[in-house]
Amino acid sequence: MSIKIIGTGSYIPEKVLSNQELEKMVDTTDEWITTRTGIRERRIADDGVFTSDLAVQAAKLALEMAGITPEQLDLISVATVSGDMTFPSTACVLQSKIGAANAACYDLVAACTGLIYSLEVAYSLLKASPAKYRYALVLGADKLSSIVDWTDRSTCILFGDGASAVVLKNDPDDPSPDFVVASKIGANGNYGDLLKLPAGGSAMPASHATVDQHLHYVKMAGKEVFKLAVNGMADSCKEVMKAAGIRPDEIAWVIPHQANKRIISAAAQRLELPLERVYVNIECIGNTSAASVGICLDELNRSGKLHSGDYILTTAFGGGLTWGAMLIRWN
Ligand code: ACO
Repeated sequence: MSIKIIGTGSYIPEKVLSNQELEKMVDTTDEWITTRTGIRERRIADDGVFTSDLAVQAAKLALEMAGITPEQLDLISVATVSGDMTFPSTACVLQSKIGAANAACYDLVAACTGLIYSLEVAYSLLKASPAKYRYALVLGADKLSSIVDWTDRSTCILFGDGASAVVLKNDPDDPSPDFVVASKIGANGNYGDLLKLPAGGSAMPASHATVDQHLHYVKMAGKEVFKLAVNGMADSCKEVMKAAGIRPDEIAWVIPHQANKRIISAAAQRLELPLERVYVNIECIGNTSAASVGICLDELNRSGKLHSGDYILTTAFGGGLTWGAMLIRWN
């Protein structure tokens, strides 16, 4: 039995929001944003386009590459912090939109670490119950523009919208190794206050006061998160490489969550990995939250930069706080 990635897909909206346009919205400059984050522009979905719609586009591309129909899916796992609504899950909405009638569906909340968490859970289900789960669609999708405070310059400059998808296949007749070589996911809820969306849940139901106080938007203590992000990504990568017995020079590509170019550089330095093997697309799409790692994977895959046997080290960090790393062997 072998579990493999047989398709990838991603989608970012067409509408570009540049740093120059942000200069007209909040007290910031293109120079500040590019120097502090490496971001020049991000993509924003139109009103009336929901997270599930972004996910549909990514899912269709991944299914097309995989060569399977939506009806063949046994599982849909969507990582998101900006689902269409609290419930039903965005996975259920997606199921209905693509016609995946035979799939079990759930959403998973791990913020920017979402895709790695989602891959870990789906992979484990396929591994544990091969008779029940043969094909899984794993997605990271976020329309963060809908939960960002466009008057808060410390957060609104960072985020963009997007979705990514991966199709996993469990093949009982394939004796080759699984795509997961080693993985590690972790969390520390004691740091939850550093990055959160306070209102709209049972702790603080929506009211006129919560709306007036902008409590339905992302709040972040950027500096604190920055430090923890570097440590969380570097430590989980080291742990995964050690578990797999793989040296940094054996890694073909590192795919870090695209939160901040400086976080990526600092983590790469800690891992003694040359920057030319670290995939970076933050300049043009910003931080797309749960979609980020999968968008990078799909871009590398579709541009022919992944080869059979390549080791790809993915890592991410996000609200929760959560972090994780997954070492993938490409098919
Ligand atoms: N334009 C101009 N000035 C700004 C802006 C802006 N957009 N934003 C903040 N500033 C100011 C601050 O007010 C502060 O001014 P002061 O010194 O007068 O008080 C100054 O710039 C420095 O602010 P810092 O917050 O210290 O800036 P820093 O260098 O830490 O960069 C940033 C901020 C980019 C947010 C950084 O801390 C960061 O990237 N943090 C991590 C983000 C992250 O990884 N999030 C996790 C994933 S997101 C998720 O899970 C959904």
